[in-house]
Amino acid sequence: MRTQTLLKRGLGVSFALLLALSLLVSSAIAEQGRKGILLVAFGTSEEKALPAYEGIEAAFRPALEQGEPLVWAYTSNIIRTKLGRQGKKVYSVDEALDALAEQGVTDLSVQSLHIMAGEEFTKLDRLLQSNVLKHPGRFKTMTLGRPLVESMDDAQAVAKAVLRAVPSARKSGDAVLFMAHGQDAGRCDMVFAGMNAVMNAIDPLAFMASVEGYQRIENIIPMLKEKGVTRVWLMPFMVVAGDHARNDLAGDEPDSWASLLRKEGMTVFPVLRGMGEIPGIQDVFARHAAESHDDIVNPKIKFTAE
Ligand code: CO
Repeated sequence: MRTQTLLKRGLGVSFALLLALSLLVSSAIAEQGRKGILLVAFGTSEEKALPAYEGIEAAFRPALEQGEPLVWAYTSNIIRTKLGRQGKKVYSVDEALDALAEQGVTDLSVQSLHIMAGEEFTKLDRLLQSNVLKHPGRFKTMTLGRPLVESMDDAQAVAKAVLRAVPSARKSGDAVLFMAHGQDAGRCDMVFAGMNAVMNAIDPLAFMASVEGYQRIENIIPMLKEKGVTRVWLMPFMVVAGDHARNDLAGDEPDSWASLLRKEGMTVFPVLRGMGEIPGIQDVFARHAAESHDDIVNPKIKFTAE
C-alpha cells in the first residue's frame, strides 16, 4: 500500500517534471518565433500590371530567412471574385492570416501597399484588429506598416523616385502629369495637395491630379496652358498600371486624360508602368515595414521606437 502510494507519487513527480520540461521546450520554441510577411494591395485583375507586385515582393524577400513565408492578400472583394471566376485564387486578409498561422508564423509583419491611409488602408487596419480579437494568442506580434505617402520624407523620396522614372525621351518644356486614384469624399485631398507641392518644387512642370476627389484634370489643364505646355507625359501615380491607367489615363474614350489633353492640342505620351516597378518606391514600402512599431496584438498608444 505504502509502496504503491510512493510509486504513484514518484510517477506523479516525474510526470510533473516532464510536463514542466516540455512546457519549457515549447516556450523556448515560441520564444524564438517564426517570422512571416503579409503584403496587402487593393489588387488588380490586369495580368500586365503584375510586374509591379513582383518588384515589391523582391524588395521584401531579403527581410526573411530561408523558408519563412511571404503571402499576398487583396482588399478588393470585386477583384478577388473576378480572379476567382478565372480560376486564380487570391487570399482575402482573413484567409491570408489563416494560411500564415498554419505555416507556424508567430511574428507577422503586414505591409499596406496602398498609396495613402484612405478607405482601403482603414479597411485593412480594421480587418487585422477584428481578426486578432477573433483568434487571441494566434500571433505573438503583428505589426502594420504605413502606406506609401505620409511623412514629408516619404513625399520627397516618392517624388524623386517617380520623377527619375520619367522616360529620358522627355524634352525640356515637356510636362509630366501623374494620375492618382483619390477618393470621392476627399480623404486623399490633403495628402495629394502636399504631394503635388513637393513634386512641383522639384520639377515645375510636374503635376498631379486624381480620378476622384478635389484635384481633377480640369484644374490642371489651365496651368498647363498658362505654362505654354504642348507635350505631356502621362504616368499612373498608382502601384499598378491597371484598369485606370489603361482606360481613364491612356485610353481612347473621349473622357480619358489622353483624349482631354489632345482636345487642347497637346501631344501625349502615356507611360503604362505602375509605381511598384520603381525601385525607389519599393524601398519606401520596405522601410515602412521595417520601421513599424504599430503592433496590433500588443497595442500601445506610442508608435515610435523606445
Ligand atoms: Co477605381
